[in-house]
Amino acid sequence: MRTQVAIIGAGPSGLLLGQLLHKAGIDNVILERQTGDYVLGRIRAGVLEQVTTDLMDEVGVNERMHKEGLVHGGFDMLFNGQRHRIDLQGLTGGKSVMVYGQTELTRDLMEARAKSGRTTVYEAANVQVHDFDTQRPRVTYEKDGQTHTLECDFIAGCDGFHGVCRASAPRSAIREFEKVYPFGWLGLLSDTPPVHHELIYVRSERGFALCSQRSHTRSRYYLQVPLTDKVEAWSDDAFWNELRLRLDPEAAEKLVTGPSLEKSIAPLRSFVTEPLRFGRMFLAGDAGHIVPPTGAKGLNLAATDVKYLSNALIEYYQERSEAGIDGYSERCLARIWRAERFSWWFTGIMHNFPEDGPIVAKLQQAELDYLINSEAGQRTIAENYVGLPLDFGG
Ligand code: APR
Ligand code: PHB
Repeated sequence: MRTQVAIIGAGPSGLLLGQLLHKAGIDNVILERQTGDYVLGRIRAGVLEQVTTDLMDEVGVNERMHKEGLVHGGFDMLFNGQRHRIDLQGLTGGKSVMVYGQTELTRDLMEARAKSGRTTVYEAANVQVHDFDTQRPRVTYEKDGQTHTLECDFIAGCDGFHGVCRASAPRSAIREFEKVYPFGWLGLLSDTPPVHHELIYVRSERGFALCSQRSHTRSRYYLQVPLTDKVEAWSDDAFWNELRLRLDPEAAEKLVTGPSLEKSIAPLRSFVTEPLRFGRMFLAGDAGHIVPPTGAKGLNLAATDVKYLSNALIEYYQERSEAGIDGYSERCLARIWRAERFSWWFTGIMHNFPEDGPIVAKLQQAELDYLINSEAGQRTIAENYVGLPLDFGG
């Protein structure tokens, strides 16, 4: 088999890239290790920046998103027992975010992919990338017991943090920057009405919590927990009780509880790979970087990476210019580092770091008091939360 761009991974990065290239008439094949159902079974964040909804509009996969997605013009920060609203719209000249689950966005992209008629191979085992330092890269994989070869012009590594593409880049050419946080997020999904119509980010003496949602009838909540905790040890009742203790009295009173549909613990990590290009192989999305979920930047960064990559590839095919390809890594990384900084900082002021001593809590408190009482401070949070524009000039 031969194609122009071989895309490894059918998460949001791979599917959106496939759609952007398809719209430009560039042939591409997606190879995914798992089944489609498995990919849709992963519960991830659900806050879309406007650049991401614009991209979904651009590829025409936007009908359900605009019908079911919830536009949020602000969110609350709760600390010292008091809630403070960050007025995203007022502070950013009218920008907002959209609450629409990554699962739903992925489902919409999968359906559009099926309709596009381009090839997607699910359950592609032992995917290996070859010769990406030459003009004729290849990808091999196994399917139904047979080995296949996919010849291509370019390889797009959209295969997530544990993928094969980054792992295949020469060690001497790669630098990795990493911070692992000393706690995780225990998440619970339930068919209960959200406690508040907007999100609440909570800093409490018992640890961070987040009240999020998927719809008017489905909620997503998180608790900061020690990395040593096991999800099996957290009953639904224990989760709800702990969440209530971290909320303000009004929210605690209003909280509607119910059986969990899903419960899991995710570690928190900041991670960036440099560069994101190795000859004719590119990394995009979680394959190249991870942010801690505070601020929900992961999916949005993945979307902007593949927008930059599709622009670069379209420029190559339409104008025979390599300028876009040559600039891909630097361009992406400038935006990535800004989102990494925001996610790291937001994580740092909202979580408990008991091992760093009591001074940290005092400093966090002072920083939050300062921010919330300064319009400049609030604007800094708001402008990062709604996301930087694609061409932010960085
Ligand atoms: N061969 C083929 N496919 C692979 C391989 C492999 N060796 N390794 C991983 N994959 C697939 C995974 O099964 C997964 O479906 O690549 C896909 C990567 O998808 P994601 O992990 O969702 O990464 P990405 O598409 O970049 O999306 C980033 O996901 O983790 C969140 O916060 C993150 O929201 C962000 C988004
Ligand atoms: C979520 O809804 O899962 C979510 C929302 C906001 C975040 C992280 C996760 O910052």
